[in-house]
Amino acid sequence: MVKIELKHLFSPGKIGNIRIKNRIVRSATYERKAIKYGIVSEKLIKLYRELAEGGTGLIISGAIGMDPKATGGPDQPYLYDDSHMEGQKKLVKEVHKYSETKIAAQLVHTGRQGTHPKYPSVAPSPIEDKYTKQIPRELTTKEIEGIVKNFVSASRRAYECEYDMVQMHGAHGYLLSNFISPYTNIRNDEYGGSIQNRAKILVDIYNQTRDEIGKNFPITIKLQIDDDVPGGLNLEEGIETAKIIVETGYDAIEPSGGIGESIILNKNPLPSRFIKSPEDENYFLESAKKLKPVMKDCPLILVGGIRNPLSAEKILQEKSADFISMSRPLIYEPDLPNRWENGDLSPAKCVSCNSCFMTMMTGEVYCVVKKKLEKKRLKEEKRNFNVKL
Ligand SMILES: Cc1cc2nc3c(=O)[nH]c(=O)nc-3n(C[C@H](O)[C@H](O)[C@H](O)COP(=O)(O)O)c2cc1C
Repeated sequence: MVKIELKHLFSPGKIGNIRIKNRIVRSATYERKAIKYGIVSEKLIKLYRELAEGGTGLIISGAIGMDPKATGGPDQPYLYDDSHMEGQKKLVKEVHKYSETKIAAQLVHTGRQGTHPKYPSVAPSPIEDKYTKQIPRELTTKEIEGIVKNFVSASRRAYECEYDMVQMHGAHGYLLSNFISPYTNIRNDEYGGSIQNRAKILVDIYNQTRDEIGKNFPITIKLQIDDDVPGGLNLEEGIETAKIIVETGYDAIEPSGGIGESIILNKNPLPSRFIKSPEDENYFLESAKKLKPVMKDCPLILVGGIRNPLSAEKILQEKSADFISMSRPLIYEPDLPNRWENGDLSPAKCVSCNSCFMTMMTGEVYCVVKKKLEKKRLKEEKRNFNVKL
């Protein structure tokens, strides 16, 4: 049998000055496994160990809360205070034990989609969220400057915890994407209006973080390029925003899309689409092809429905992306990269049913399909054992 080589998928790449051993990225995936309030747990460390052992080149953490007033919940890891660093250091150290695996801290401010019991949601403008039914409070310019500082401090903590890089969460309807979008930002100060003004917060965060940490720490972003709602940010404006991000100096962009409201307005919403056939896979590829020419030397991390190693290889070979990134497949199979590297090229077992997404609403994130299959297997094993007796 001829062994198909995935030359591109398993060749090293670079983000800033950091070498990544292959082109496989674990896209940020909220786990809800921290200890109240925001402390890294042994369960969380175990999950990251499995991902590192499983061969992923770069693991992007689940969204980490960088502001006490804008976290996802008590079981989300935080980095807004030095007291959160001890557990984070342990987690990073564990990942680094496994053959050159790299790890990025994703930092999020929940913005318009915030559900903090004590602090009402905030946004660039007070536009009602049709999903949460909340009208966020409009931020003052001074508050925006304070949030920028908190992103910088959280990045500094990530650096001190020896994360290899940070990723700003600039997508999915959270605060940074609220600024980019003409749907959620109708301000008329320097943070609103033109695309350049709407991207100002991202430029400020980059410049101030660079000043604080120096040149040798990649600052990357998950960038909204499509709100997936009527009147929202479209690809054309997404590309203009990406140009600003590249000019600013960001070290990699992972384009994405969709906001909370996409779920009630669309049958198959972004960012985590259902995938029913191979035609549904790689659903940001066409957008990536349009983005790539404006990216210059800034690496593009392609996420969204990547399930097949052969099409991933082709995407990299054709230079439509520099890295491929997966979330749901690695919840089911944390060892998927090793499986592909060892020659089993069948697509990811994940059926993209979004059961993992649903578990996130009530507690720890897991793959419901995998759990059911495991239960069935255990039941059968028990039955066979009883028959033998
Ligand atoms: C359970 C779950 C949690 C997620 N958490 C995050 C997150 O914390 N930050 C983020 O940027 N995206 C998050 N996402 C979106 C994924 O990173 C990814 O963009 C999306 O699922 C599409 O990739 P996939 O088809 O490989 O799953 C999450 C997705 C799922 C299913």
